[in-house]
Amino acid sequence: MMYDFTGKVAVVTGAGGEMAGAMVKKFTDNGACAALLDIREDLAQKTADDLGLGADRALCVKVDISDEDSVKAAVQQIMDKFGRIDFLCNVAGIEGPNDSRTEVYSTEGAKKVFAINILGTFLMMKHVLPVMQAQKSGAIVNLGSVSGMYGYEGEIAYGASKAAVIQMTKNVANENAKLGIRCNAISPGWVNTGMFRRIVGQYAEGEGRGSGWDNVHVGNIGRTAEPMEMANVAVFLCSDDASFVNGSNWLCDGGKTLDQG
Ligand SMILES: NC(=O)c1ccc[n+]([C@@H]2O[C@H](COP(=O)([O-])OP(=O)(O)OC[C@H]3O[C@@H](n4cnc5c(N)ncnc54)[C@H](O)[C@@H]3O)[C@@H](O)[C@H]2O)c1
Repeated sequence: MMYDFTGKVAVVTGAGGEMAGAMVKKFTDNGACAALLDIREDLAQKTADDLGLGADRALCVKVDISDEDSVKAAVQQIMDKFGRIDFLCNVAGIEGPNDSRTEVYSTEGAKKVFAINILGTFLMMKHVLPVMQAQKSGAIVNLGSVSGMYGYEGEIAYGASKAAVIQMTKNVANENAKLGIRCNAISPGWVNTGMFRRIVGQYAEGEGRGSGWDNVHVGNIGRTAEPMEMANVAVFLCSDDASFVNGSNWLCDGGKTLDQG
């Protein structure tokens, strides 16, 4: 599907990853400029380079979304360059420990997952919302997960963090519905990205878990999603075609949870 995003600015966090990279491609293919944010600026720059985006269309910014000063500085840099923010996709996140029961789950690991996935998503919305409110328009998409909807084993912090992201999406949608700003979430099943490949590796190392792949339940479609399949939904949710969609959580799991939920 094609959109006309001429003159629009999309901010995508985690832009060094493949899912966010696919969103940057989809936004810019449809005429938007993009701010590519990542704690690894080199990876964000690689995404821009791979997509052939020069400095006229793209701004790569190093940001740690869990650090408020870093987020404030990034939003200022985006405003200095583009002067507006139309779309915010909060894609940056970490998986944390994936194969630990709660009683042995690393406390430091849990704090880090909460800091990046929950606080980071909160801080990005906190500092971008005033820009969108002044414009009286904007759309936000947050990355939840099926992990935030079901209680999978071995990932208490990640699951809780994604449940919080889905909940914050509703809070922000409710607060801003009359201000021209919509906020929605996407909850993927397995998506073929660096994170997915790392988790399969962790499963493979887990005691008594068999091979990594044996523990990956992809659902009735029988494969993982490709990053662009998430980008297609995210960009639709940002577009005017989704003008009546607000506060929702889009389950994009290829049917994974049909036989689990
Ligand atoms: N891959 C999956 O199967 C899957 C499934 C459900 C949900 N998700 C969610 O989708 C999102 C994207 O996942 P992915 O698979 O592309 O992950 P990924 O690990 O491949 O990419 C994540 C990107 O976020 C960046 N990042 C990490 N911490 C950051 C920080 N503090 N500040 C700024 N950037 C930071 C990383 O450098 C990386 O480039 C995540 O929120 C993830 O939880 C992924």
